[in-house]
Amino acid sequence: MIEIKNLAIIGAGLMGHNIAQISLMACYNVVLVDVNEKILNKGVSLIEQGLKKLESKNQLNGNSTGEVLSRLTTSTNTAVAVKEADFVIEAVIEDLDIKKQVFKTCDENSPASCILASNTSTMSITEIAKATNRPDKVIGMHFFNPPILMRLIEIIYGEKSSDEAIDTAIKIGENLPCLRGKRYIAKVLKDRPGFIVNRINAPVGIYLNWIYDQAAEKGIPWEQIDADAAGVMPMGPCELADYTGLDLAIHAREYYAKTLSPDFKAGKVITKLVNEGKTGRKSGQGFYDWSKGRPKIDKSKKAGLFNPEIALAIMLNEGCRLLEEGVVSGYKIIDEANLAGMNTPGPFGAGKKNYEKWTKMLDELADKTGKEYLRPCELMRTGGFLKMKK
Ligand code: NAI
Repeated sequence: MIEIKNLAIIGAGLMGHNIAQISLMACYNVVLVDVNEKILNKGVSLIEQGLKKLESKNQLNGNSTGEVLSRLTTSTNTAVAVKEADFVIEAVIEDLDIKKQVFKTCDENSPASCILASNTSTMSITEIAKATNRPDKVIGMHFFNPPILMRLIEIIYGEKSSDEAIDTAIKIGENLPCLRGKRYIAKVLKDRPGFIVNRINAPVGIYLNWIYDQAAEKGIPWEQIDADAAGVMPMGPCELADYTGLDLAIHAREYYAKTLSPDFKAGKVITKLVNEGKTGRKSGQGFYDWSKGRPKIDKSKKAGLFNPEIALAIMLNEGCRLLEEGVVSGYKIIDEANLAGMNTPGPFGAGKKNYEKWTKMLDELADKTGKEYLRPCELMRTGGFLKMKK
């Protein structure tokens, strides 16, 4: 395994600057790259602020902000920046053509031994690797936002990735500090849409979109849907969708509709809200009015429409599909990854005891909604997953 000293991080936005910060804290030399100089400078100043805050709380391992920052350089030119890189982490915008261009440039200009990793949330690593002449050294390295607080990193095999490239990335991942405890590295054995955590959560959206549309038809207020989740989820599904952004939700739905099943297509309510520019918290309006801050939601009356137990059943079904497809070797990894990436338990803990009941619930749901993707797969239906813990 090659010794890794120099990291190049391409893209200094939300994810890139934070990945750079933890890489610096792990004593790597970092060159941070962005085509936009303003964003690059903002990224550096966010890193500095972050480090100073940690230094003031004695969380920098006795180092000063100045010492840590002395390992950082910046560039607006990827070709020059990767000349001495041992390992590249790409975190540019989620656009396949741009990512391929970045990988081509990295391939043509970095040392032959350099490993190229993408932080893509959705794109195929195999496809990105095709832009290079070193597909064995191209892998996925998927962080969760913000990387300094979220323990999970998914390390993904493209079709041609070598074990050595994967093992090197795992080692780097384990070195990167996380303020909420020990890093959890999940090996993703197959390059399938959504990898692990985004994938098992994605089909819950099929159910939710159906609920939003039902509520709209029946004139049920959003508050009552969120009230259905009270006591089980810290935020109800409508508030949470507003919080993370309805435009992002649509984007993800389109992607899964293309790659997994048309059942993922966004429903009428979400599509209408986004077409009207009501994208949630960031636009001031979504399901709720956010113009004066977090909305006050009256949860005194329930709609009786959304059942959080069904959401868990859907996650169990999708987790079983991951096992069927060979994306992970065992369900323990899925549960641990969900906890480390989403701060909520995965579905298998409760699913081991409830899969028979949940199978019935999902059969009924598939009949009622007409969404065949929600029907239980064989591994869930038969309980075959129980033998696949590790
Ligand atoms: P962002 O929009 O905040 O940052 C992307 C940056 O890439 C921008 O600063 C842009 O100027 C820069 N850029 C664009 N083209 C470039 C090029 N050719 N060379 C160098 N820099 C270029 O986006 P964000 O949220 O940081 O996402 C980056 C990647 O991380 C995406 O692939 C996204 O899917 C993935 N990701 C995002 C998560 C999130 O919660 N935002 C979570 C996990 C992964």
